[in-house]
Amino acid sequence: MKLDTPMSETGDQVPTQITRDGIRAMRRSYGDVGLLEGEINRDPIEQFKSWLEAASENIMIVEANAMVLSAILNDETTSRTVLLKDVHDSGFTFFTNYQSEKAQAIAQNQKVSLLFPWYAMERQVIIRGTAAKVSAQESDEYFATRPWGSKIGAWASSQSQVLESREVLEARYQEFAAKYPEGSEVPRPEHWGGYLVKPSLIEFWQGRYSRLHDRLRYTLHNNLWQVTRLNP
Ligand SMILES: Cc1cc2nc3c(=O)[nH]c(=O)nc-3n(C[C@H](O)[C@H](O)[C@H](O)COP(=O)(O)O)c2cc1C
Repeated sequence: MKLDTPMSETGDQVPTQITRDGIRAMRRSYGDVGLLEGEINRDPIEQFKSWLEAASENIMIVEANAMVLSAILNDETTSRTVLLKDVHDSGFTFFTNYQSEKAQAIAQNQKVSLLFPWYAMERQVIIRGTAAKVSAQESDEYFATRPWGSKIGAWASSQSQVLESREVLEARYQEFAAKYPEGSEVPRPEHWGGYLVKPSLIEFWQGRYSRLHDRLRYTLHNNLWQVTRLNP
């Protein structure tokens, strides 16, 4: 992996200055690993799983299952990170608060985008699709597997609402911790659950030399995935 930024004598990267020129000098040349039509899985979900596995095994990547979810709220594009909790033939699942801003956005417009930024591997995956709530049973099953503190947190937080102070949040946490003590069964709040994003497009991006990156885009036509290569 080559770096275009200056190196010190010890080979360490010289700290970048946060000036216009410093930011412009943040430039890496990308590697030799390609993504070729002959090598990919015809099923983009299987291809995704193999990249997720590689990302999760790469110690340079923190939270390989973190993805940026973009959705449209009142004609504005909004983004935030969420964690992928399942992937299967039907799509990609994450869990959140059903009264949050993202949930309001999805209620208005089901069309969303997901982006996995695996920069340490010079890779990204972009997904477009339609989000819909998973069944209450699926949300119950996943909620039950969460650590006690996260379960209490789901009760305590009115996600995306204005909060008077940190103390108010902690007081609410204590309130629910007393209601559902550690070791007791914590029910899933109705306002908390999962979404499944059913993909209509999945694009795999692999960085290459001289910005001649590989971009292979799968799109769904009559229930069949077709692959096209895009200019980088
Ligand atoms: C690495 C990471 C993982 C996150 N995972 C989740 C998640 O799985 N579910 C969630 O609701 N918020 C998650 N968040 C917080 C969201 O990014 C966001 O702040 C929160 O969901 C409120 O978003 P909203 O107001 O746009 O609805 C995560 C944040 C980070 C940085």
